[in-house]
Amino acid sequence: TKKYTIAVIPGDGIGKEVTPWAQKALEKAAEGVAEFSYEQFDLGAERYLRDGAILPEDEEERIKKTDAILLGAVGDPRIKAGILERGLLLKLRFDLDQYVNLRPSKLYKGVTSPLANPGDIDFVVVREGTEGLYCGAGGAVRRGTANEVATEVSINTAYGVERVVRYAFQLAMKRRKHVTLVHKKNVLVNAGDMWQRLVDKVSAEYPEVSHDYSHIDAATIFLVSDPSRFDVILTDNLFGDILTDEAGAVVGGVGYSASGCINASNEYPSMFEPIHGSAPDIAGQNKANPTAAILSAAMLLRHLGFDEAAARIDAAVEADIEELGSTVRSTDQVGRDILARM
Ligand code: NAD
Ligand code: IPM
Ligand code: MN
Repeated sequence: TKKYTIAVIPGDGIGKEVTPWAQKALEKAAEGVAEFSYEQFDLGAERYLRDGAILPEDEEERIKKTDAILLGAVGDPRIKAGILERGLLLKLRFDLDQYVNLRPSKLYKGVTSPLANPGDIDFVVVREGTEGLYCGAGGAVRRGTANEVATEVSINTAYGVERVVRYAFQLAMKRRKHVTLVHKKNVLVNAGDMWQRLVDKVSAEYPEVSHDYSHIDAATIFLVSDPSRFDVILTDNLFGDILTDEAGAVVGGVGYSASGCINASNEYPSMFEPIHGSAPDIAGQNKANPTAAILSAAMLLRHLGFDEAAARIDAAVEADIEELGSTVRSTDQVGRDILARM
């Protein structure tokens, strides 16, 4: 059997509490299927406060050599916003060219949605992962003065957009064959027009896939008024970030929302993480829901081609939620319950 190395980066806050459960689920699902070894990385707030390191080059090189990455969450209230988020999390997404940020949302039986009539919710957001407003193009001049000017420029390249558009159509072929482009082309006319043209162009290669368009503001309405209309939602980096937190809330909380930062050309490892953050408001209390992290482990397995092992995790999670989703349980209790079902 082939051997796989998984980089584990628990990170900060509840990331440290949920990631061990994701790793345990991965270990259990992989039993008898493949040989996985784990390399732990001490990165995040504690490390930064201890020695100032965010993502040392030699550690990033080791991460690059692994087969996949399991990440918890990054960010700490003691550290200025952006230092760890940009220096660690976004740096990995960018340097490993994880251009597809895949964020499925499904309303499980047993979860109470905040919507009165949620219907069947089962869609995937294909969020661009390496461009847009996240690039860090921009700057501040005359900082701290009354004449300060701050800019953030959204970078959209035809190459970067076309590849994620193509991924969305390929994914739609395996699903209900519908893509919704979400943008704001009525205002962001340069980028919006390019996204729309590339969708129109690529769609010609997938005649079975229908596609439509929604402005981001209207999309936030439809996500709560009629979420079952969506199959594959295709959008840019920032719109996708916002929409997927809303999607998480609609399916019962971000504690159920997993994601994959995918390098679809497999040039570098892909990274799997819950969509939520380090949740300082509940960190250290054994309260965080580890389900999203555990489902991220399933996405990791599916990415490496272990569909049956992934399905074992998915089935255990689904059964757990159906039976116990409405009970109040600690992080460790949910982890144990899901593991026991595997
Ligand atoms: P957050 O996702 O950490 O928390 C938002 C709300 O959701 C909080 O009330 C939190 O308690 C709740 N929540 C999140 N995950 C939960 C879980 N598994 N179970 C139960 N409740 C959960 O977002 P935030 O508060 O805006 O950000 C906190 C920090 O995390 C910031 O430093 C931010 O930059 C960072 N962040 C990191 C990531 C990441 O690493 N991918 C994602 C989002 C935010
Ligand atoms: C997420 C987070 C990150 C993002 C931040 C922490 C950089 O919100 O993974 O959703 O905006 O992508
Ligand atoms: Mn987010």
